[in-house]
Amino acid sequence: MPPSDTDEAGPGGVGDRPPSEIPGAPKAPAPGDGGSGSAPNVVTEKGVATQKGEVPGGEQAAELPRGTAPGIRFEKVVKRFGSNVVLRELDFTVAPGERVTLIGPSGSGKTTILRLLMTLEKLDGGLIWIGDETLWHRERGGKRVPADQKHLHEMRKQVGMVFQQFNLFPNMNVLHNLTEGPVRVLGLSKDEAVERARGLLDMVGLTDKENAHPTQLSGGQQQRVAIARALAMQPKVLLLDEVTSALDPELVVGVQDLLRDIARQSDLTLLCVTHEMGFAKDISNRVLMFDQGQIVEEGPPDQIFGEPSEQRTRDFLQAVLAS
Ligand SMILES: Nc1ncnc2c1ncn2[C@@H]1O[C@H](COP(=O)(O)OP(=O)(O)OP(=O)(O)O)[C@@H](O)[C@H]1O
Ligand SMILES: [Mg+2]
Repeated sequence: MPPSDTDEAGPGGVGDRPPSEIPGAPKAPAPGDGGSGSAPNVVTEKGVATQKGEVPGGEQAAELPRGTAPGIRFEKVVKRFGSNVVLRELDFTVAPGERVTLIGPSGSGKTTILRLLMTLEKLDGGLIWIGDETLWHRERGGKRVPADQKHLHEMRKQVGMVFQQFNLFPNMNVLHNLTEGPVRVLGLSKDEAVERARGLLDMVGLTDKENAHPTQLSGGQQQRVAIARALAMQPKVLLLDEVTSALDPELVVGVQDLLRDIARQSDLTLLCVTHEMGFAKDISNRVLMFDQGQIVEEGPPDQIFGEPSEQRTRDFLQAVLAS
């Protein structure tokens, strides 16, 4: 499915503060290894360099975003499917550059949160902020009105998602999977898009697969392509939805290592759904335990996985360990 268009935004909500101005919003952590400031860092299979072209050996390198990631804020967000109220006035904040893992039982609404951010689902109430702008609404004449297609289009450019089932375009080869969005949505020339795609394929270790079709790749390779495809859009917010749960066990570690490197070497704001506690500990600064459309508790990974304060969290973690 090419980058999708959703028709219209839901009705308005309340409040008007962007995440950067919310009192008590967690501060962004120091953005991982390897430098700071606005110079674009690049990552290759062989490591990270501070500026494009400075990689030892001079191989083609992919740029990862630094210094510009916006925060996210959900403010009294409501989402229902028919009579099933999945999110009930949900409030939470992810600071700029913060990496947050969402855990919680099946059906609790984790994927729905990510799909709302991707504008793949419509909002039924409340506000979703990305940086200091609302995703589903815009200001007009001092009032907040449902966003038009142009606003949604601009806002969704900031967000990339990697899905559990890869969701590659089956009729396109690997290179075309990576160039389609940048050409169609971002307006890159074919040559620019191909150069960017090749840098990313190098980063994910699939240079030799650019002409392959998705069905000719292993699950791990497909997921690497899907990660590269998401990064080809140079998003500022990256959403990961159980990205290794459809993989054979021996392929999981490689994909997790890749994502860990990307998380450490960029300053992407990251929202990750995973039940793999080791991965969650490595990749995130904070874990939100989520149930029935609400946050049950939140804290650093060591605390939530080691000493959760809520019985609901203890029960859930026990069930995950037993599975
Ligand atoms: N397109 C849809 N139409 C109707 N109901 C939906 C749709 N998508 C999700 N739901 C319902 O919304 C609820 C939350 O689903 P969601 O996929 O967000 O859960 P989840 O926390 O991601 O679960 P899992 O851990 O199993 O992936 C569920 O009750 C689900 O049945
Ligand atoms: Mg899900």
